[in-house]
Amino acid sequence: MTSSELPTIGIAVIGFGWMGQAHSRSYARIPSLFPDRNAEPALIICCDNVEARGVEAVRSFGFRESTTDPAVAINHPDVDAVIVCAPNMLHEELSVMAAKAGKAVFCEKPVGGTPDQTARAEQAARAAGVITGVGYNYRWAPLVQYAKSLIDAGVLGDITNYRGRFFSMYGSDPMGLLSWRFEHDGAGYGVSSDILSHSIDLAMMLNGPIESVVGLQDTVIKERPLPKPGEGTHYDRGEPGDPTGPVTNEDYAGCFARFANGSVGTFEASRAIVGPQSQMAFEIYGTKGSLMWNLETMNEMRIFLTEAHDPGDGSAVIHDGYTTVYAGDRYPFHGRFVPGDANAIGYEDLKVIECAQFLEAVASGEQHDPGFAEAIDYVSVQAALVRSWESGGWEPVTSVRID
Ligand SMILES: NC(=O)c1ccc[n+]([C@@H]2O[C@H](COP(=O)([O-])OP(=O)(O)OC[C@H]3O[C@@H](n4cnc5c(N)ncnc54)[C@H](O)[C@@H]3O)[C@@H](O)[C@H]2O)c1
Repeated sequence: MTSSELPTIGIAVIGFGWMGQAHSRSYARIPSLFPDRNAEPALIICCDNVEARGVEAVRSFGFRESTTDPAVAINHPDVDAVIVCAPNMLHEELSVMAAKAGKAVFCEKPVGGTPDQTARAEQAARAAGVITGVGYNYRWAPLVQYAKSLIDAGVLGDITNYRGRFFSMYGSDPMGLLSWRFEHDGAGYGVSSDILSHSIDLAMMLNGPIESVVGLQDTVIKERPLPKPGEGTHYDRGEPGDPTGPVTNEDYAGCFARFANGSVGTFEASRAIVGPQSQMAFEIYGTKGSLMWNLETMNEMRIFLTEAHDPGDGSAVIHDGYTTVYAGDRYPFHGRFVPGDANAIGYEDLKVIECAQFLEAVASGEQHDPGFAEAIDYVSVQAALVRSWESGGWEPVTSVRID
């Protein structure tokens, strides 16, 4: 048995909560799922300000070292790529530090809590010429990739309408803790930074740029129990009588949008809605057909076509009424996890695909998509939306990029 002759890409993960752990597990899974990879990932160092989390990263996830100091992780000589999974308001500082150290940087969405922070992080990465990546992981769902190929091939005709939503129950319980997500100091904006960003990013991937928006926002639950430092996540609850603090960013954000291709769209995101549990969903309608996809049933897509279409196997398919298509190994990436049709893959598998694509970009030196430039595309829409909350009218989308 010989060891791999591929170059090694050393990884530092900063912030070892839900996402830090998901990225770490995903890098560890790449070798067995991507035998055609162009580099070997090596988990070098994990950084969390809660020391026990870094210790656990070494004990159970295979990191060589841990630290509570981000500068130590970023400047580690064996680290080539820094994965930023800390709360949003730390993204700018950590991304800029990584870029200035000449390291590739993958930042969890939305790269900064505010559009200004995203713009400064992108400027620093561009100036340093480093590879960047962003955690818009729903792009990587095999049926979403298939949807994109159908849309790009004109199978749906000219696109007329788009509906995007991300309805989640994670903040619907008034006893849910006041984690950093509910505070402007920790997260920046609320759902518009957190989950609307996924919905609009996906829309722009599928249907191109947005030119103008008009929207509104609301905070439904105004006080929440205070968390204990270093314990729990935004899924945990307090008890009646616990001390509380104010929620300082929005629970709901919605808008109408006009796309550059002339189509119209609507978007809604809520973290305080009851019923839909993680409904990251889109519908796209064209003159010859339409598609519907929902993360809650991510291995299914509904398709309506008015004209015969060859899905690639020589058969002509026409859908007279909606047809449900199940994910399977004939769609991008799916067969790396399970063979055949309708054997489901899951949320964290999308993270493995994402990490594998980023690893390949770092090793090849070719910019990853989505990177910080695509993060700018989203926060430029967000900045227009925030202006619309204040003006009450339509606002043009202009790039927040700093030249
Ligand atoms: N792509 C997705 O689907 C997705 C899903 C969830 C979260 N996210 C993003 O990932 C990021 C992290 O979210 P999460 O849910 O993992 O949060 P989390 O609260 O579970 O984890 C955050 C971690 O960062 C650590 N931390 C806080 N301050 C730090 C500091 N100064 N230095 C080092 N570590 C520090 C915390 O101790 C915690 O372990 C956010 O930006 C969020 O928007 C993305």
